Amino acid sequence: MTQPRILLIISGGIAAYKALELVRLLKARDMAVRAVVTQAAKQFVTPLSLGVLTEDHVYDGLFDLKAEREIGHIQLSREADLVVVAPASADILAKMAGGLADDLATTLLLATDKPVLACPAMNVRMWHHKATQRNIAQLKEDGVHILEPAVGAMACNEWGKGRLPEPVDIAAEIERLLTEAPAREPQLLTDTTRTINAPDLSGPNLFGRHVLVTAGPTHEPIDPVRYIANRSSGKQGFAIAAAAAQAGARVTLVAGPVMLPTPAGVTRVDVETAREMLSAVQAALPADAAILVAAVADWRATDEAAQKIKKDGSGAPVPLHLTENPDILATLAAHAQRPGLLVGFAAETEKVVDHATAKRTRKGADWIVANDVSGDVMGGARNTVHLVTAKGVEAWPDLPKSAVAARLIERIANALDAR
Ligand code: CTP
Repeated sequence: MTQPRILLIISGGIAAYKALELVRLLKARDMAVRAVVTQAAKQFVTPLSLGVLTEDHVYDGLFDLKAEREIGHIQLSREADLVVVAPASADILAKMAGGLADDLATTLLLATDKPVLACPAMNVRMWHHKATQRNIAQLKEDGVHILEPAVGAMACNEWGKGRLPEPVDIAAEIERLLTEAPAREPQLLTDTTRTINAPDLSGPNLFGRHVLVTAGPTHEPIDPVRYIANRSSGKQGFAIAAAAAQAGARVTLVAGPVMLPTPAGVTRVDVETAREMLSAVQAALPADAAILVAAVADWRATDEAAQKIKKDGSGAPVPLHLTENPDILATLAAHAQRPGLLVGFAAETEKVVDHATAKRTRKGADWIVANDVSGDVMGGARNTVHLVTAKGVEAWPDLPKSAVAARLIERIANALDAR
């Protein structure tokens, strides 16, 4: 089997130091890595350390004469199975979207005929800037794979979306893309890497199915520093995504702001608000099954203040006007591309089965998994649920969230097979 070859382009930004860990992980997965650094990236990571880890020459300039004699830049871009830009700064994304080629990295990106994965990393405001979002949309249209940035604390002391995903998550995405790539070029993977997405044949079989999962809370901004949230940990939804991938499904996990690692073999889309979650879910269609586990905030602030809201000193109550968020489950139920099997969760603190049964009909779901959240379920490791279907109600015993996930995935695989 051929060893997969990754051309890793490292652009400038504080996250560039994570590229070293990424190289180590890829080498541990038996991939050959060749690194290219931009001038800005060299301020954050040295060609020497990259050279030691990649065990190869590190390319850092368009007019690297010695290298140019040995290997032309066109050839460099064609020798790889996958081109990965990590971190991808706002600047390099703009150049890629505009087709600029003013240094070695951008020249290679314009010259390549291989799949490209870009992993953006930047300040939250830069990420949300219309120009960056326009460039991302353009790149997606051009067929570039984008691994969405993670949400969290930034080096610049701000919080939000824009962090480079953890190297282990980038490595998982690279493996996923390499398993997708055989349509273009067979035998890209070694046996060791291929096992990552191989279905567990002893359990439920979702091979060839696309499963969509939502998980975690949503955050609804009130002003630049405050938001409306809830106590959802995301653990149950992540466990379901992991169980579906284990069963061989292609899994899209749309996750609200949670600090959980992405399960192996799962494509994760990070979102913050209910409206972002709805558009990510719609963009992921069609799906054979959708399991909406997210605790979507029911309301958002009617007007998000542009500046931090200040106390006026009077002690008078501050009015906060709320608007109802779109209902993602009900929207999917009425969608032209309604998933074949639509499963909702119902978090209830009383009359659990009654409320869940009514919710199933009201929202147009096939099944509702009802859980009693009056205890410490949110954030805990166990869950006691009832499965409400058109045929009736089943009470499941108290189980770890991973076992609830495994049981639900088994039921879903059987239901899809029976169709
Ligand atoms: N849900 C959704 N979009 C929303 C609210 C909820 O998709 N805006 C989904 C959840 O992911 C879950 C199901 O609907 O699968 C039920 O969520 P829950 O919070 O229990 O229901 P609510 O609609 O909030 O109903 P209520 O507040 O009346 O209990």
